[in-house]
Amino acid sequence: MTTAMLSFDALMDITARPKIVFVRGEGSLMWDDKGKRYLDFIQGWAVNCLGHAPPAVAQALAAQAQRLISPSPAYYNDVSLSLAKALVERSCFDQVFFANSGAEANEGAIKLARKYGARHCNGAFEIITFDGGFHGRTLATMSASGKKAFEPLFEPKVPGFRKARLNDLDSVKALINGNTVAVMLEPIQGEAGVWPASDEFLQALRALTSEHGLLLIVDEIQTGMGRTGKLFHYEHAGIEPDIMTLGKGIGGGVPLAALLATEKAACFEHGDQGGTFNGNALMCAAGLAVLEEVAKPEFLRTAVDTGMLLEAELQRLSARHGLGEVRGRGLLLALDLKLPMGVAIVTQALQDGLLLNSPQPDALRFMPALNITRGEISEMIDGLDAILTKVGAARRVA
Ligand SMILES: Cc1ncc(COP(=O)(O)O)c(C=O)c1O
Repeated sequence: MTTAMLSFDALMDITARPKIVFVRGEGSLMWDDKGKRYLDFIQGWAVNCLGHAPPAVAQALAAQAQRLISPSPAYYNDVSLSLAKALVERSCFDQVFFANSGAEANEGAIKLARKYGARHCNGAFEIITFDGGFHGRTLATMSASGKKAFEPLFEPKVPGFRKARLNDLDSVKALINGNTVAVMLEPIQGEAGVWPASDEFLQALRALTSEHGLLLIVDEIQTGMGRTGKLFHYEHAGIEPDIMTLGKGIGGGVPLAALLATEKAACFEHGDQGGTFNGNALMCAAGLAVLEEVAKPEFLRTAVDTGMLLEAELQRLSARHGLGEVRGRGLLLALDLKLPMGVAIVTQALQDGLLLNSPQPDALRFMPALNITRGEISEMIDGLDAILTKVGAARRVA
């Protein structure tokens, strides 16, 4: 079938999408069905940490697909055991449950916290989450999120989530009561526009939750797997959370996610948690291939260097065009536009063959492949420079 015969109508219309059909990707580049080339700074929403169609993942998938795909979650498979071991060896956690999406991993974290509350804290079930936070699109994870646009949707919400303000410890303290079992946050709020929790705030949260016997849950679905220059973001703050969720980058483009917990917090009993595809050998083979690459010290060192280059270049652009701050860490950065120009910039960029994301009207978010080259960063900066000149000029005329 040629792409000219494809119809858009058979897919549910769940979001506004440009009528472009992508057919191929390689590293930081993608091509549509007309052969147009795009430089990709979205990478499947911070998913393709090794870029498009990385050989390591493609080879691992091809080999595993011919060996064993899904023996059933009722049995062990060698690949999920190896990946779980590799993750606990590289983190402060003791056990892993594999999931298929970030939302499912977070749903599992919420269930685990409630289980912990039932077993150890007199039935405490409330989880303190944060204004602006994003944890997924299941009913519980939407309820846990602090995204304004979710508020009127799918009522009634799942109860038990109280919202504090990021980097405001007093707002957390004020919400702690006898029903509280955990505090859950993204170390950097991505969807809200890349707003980091400071290291000091994360350290204070760790101390506060320990003092009150509460679990600290970090949602590292976007920040984990080297995205911020360390394998896991919590390492920057020198803390050890009780529970962590991973998604996006862990599969290098395929649906894989994980819920990790310390021995103390990992209290599921038989029947509490499961799922048909969870921990299937095929996805875990991709996860192992990704982890092998990303955990190499030289890989992370290079990602830190390119992150610093991207940050410096964005700061230079900001100064040149009178824009605002550059926020974030590693290769998860935002440029504050000061004005709601995001949609205009993203639209023009698409025409110019550059894929950019504007999570908020006044911000651009950059989440390229972790192995992006310096040349590709220069190409994006030159393209954005030209777009800012054009869009800025259009705004002045208007
Ligand atoms: C921090 C965070 N948590 C959870 C999710 C949900 O992950 P998924 O879309 O894989 O369900 C996302 C996705 O953007 C995210 O950024």
